[in-house]
Amino acid sequence: RIVPLLLAGGSGTRLWPVSRDAMPKQFLPLVGDRSTYQQALARVSNPDLFAPPIVMTVNDFRFFAKTQAEALGIDATVVLEPLRRDSGPAIAAGAALARSRDPGAVVLAIAADHVILDQDVFEATCAAGLEAAVAGNIVTFGILPASPKTSYGYIRRGESLGIEGVAKVAAFVEKPDAATAAHYVADGYLWNSGNFLFGAETLLSELARFEPEMARAVVAAVDESSLDLGFVRLDADAFGAAPQKSIDYAVMERTDRTAVIEGRFRWSDVGSWDAVFDIAERDAAGNVVSGPAATFETQDCVIHAEDRLTVALGVKDLVIVTTPDAVLVLPRSRAEDVKGAVAALKQQG
Ligand code: GDD
Ligand code: MG
Repeated sequence: RIVPLLLAGGSGTRLWPVSRDAMPKQFLPLVGDRSTYQQALARVSNPDLFAPPIVMTVNDFRFFAKTQAEALGIDATVVLEPLRRDSGPAIAAGAALARSRDPGAVVLAIAADHVILDQDVFEATCAAGLEAAVAGNIVTFGILPASPKTSYGYIRRGESLGIEGVAKVAAFVEKPDAATAAHYVADGYLWNSGNFLFGAETLLSELARFEPEMARAVVAAVDESSLDLGFVRLDADAFGAAPQKSIDYAVMERTDRTAVIEGRFRWSDVGSWDAVFDIAERDAAGNVVSGPAATFETQDCVIHAEDRLTVALGVKDLVIVTTPDAVLVLPRSRAEDVKGAVAALKQQG
């Protein structure tokens, strides 16, 4: 069975004011009634295919991670990173833990802040990728691109691996500039969805080739980790020696042991309020409404009310978010710019 490895350590400022440093988006019900972290746990809970999950997160989020899993009746191993070192060390430490429990472990690293619909297609994709992972490949799930976004990794498919639906990766390019991304979309590249299926040993041996310091650091951090109140605490000195780098730059751009399978499920990284609009369920007027909100003659809006009655009348294509201490209003087309506004607010104190 595949060992799920959930990455639940990031934060997301483009979903301000709901997502905050102290309460990041993966633990919030932004799309549907469950947080995306809980949706991710449920996604990898079919016991025929998946073993109990490992969750990678940071100290501040440990109770969210534990209690939201328990609420679903899921017994997760919650691993605490002593400091944020990006997805490279997080995935590698999870792989090292899985390997220490089972040298032949096959791991599926997934993001806790994504939404995937079409569960059956997702499971079929995992099952199809398993053989390629066992054969020593790091398997990515590619998504047919909808636009030349620069915030994603791009994958060029190479020759078939001889396994149904699975191809070698001819090139993996993380976050290209806009012009390059446009070429890639035209040339049939796929987006990297951020799901990685691999033998723990494969990932760690590739990491040892390209980032020996990171590989040593995470293995030592796992070896010297301690169990404290049900949490696995990675050793701070050991883990701190790992360079801060995402898995995409640390391994995926460099290794030739990568494969890709097209993920034909609906996928969103829920990166902005406009992304919430794209993936969430809409009412008859095309609005995505959650919480105590009402709309009149309102079209194609996202209205997210945390606790106070929020009413929209005669507006179109807006994002309206209300929380106990902040209100956000902007055109949906400007949703990406929230990040900059939040940064400016922080600077002003
Ligand atoms: N535990 C832990 N610790 N998780 C982390 C850390 C960390 O230090 N840093 C990031 N993560 C989590 C994030 O919360 C997210 O779920 C996942 O790891 C990926 O990190 P992001 O920071 O969101 O990466 P990205 O969105 O810029 O790019 C990645 O995802 C894209 C798809 O959404 C890359 O893999 C791209 O190639 C890909 O297209
Ligand atoms: Mg992301």
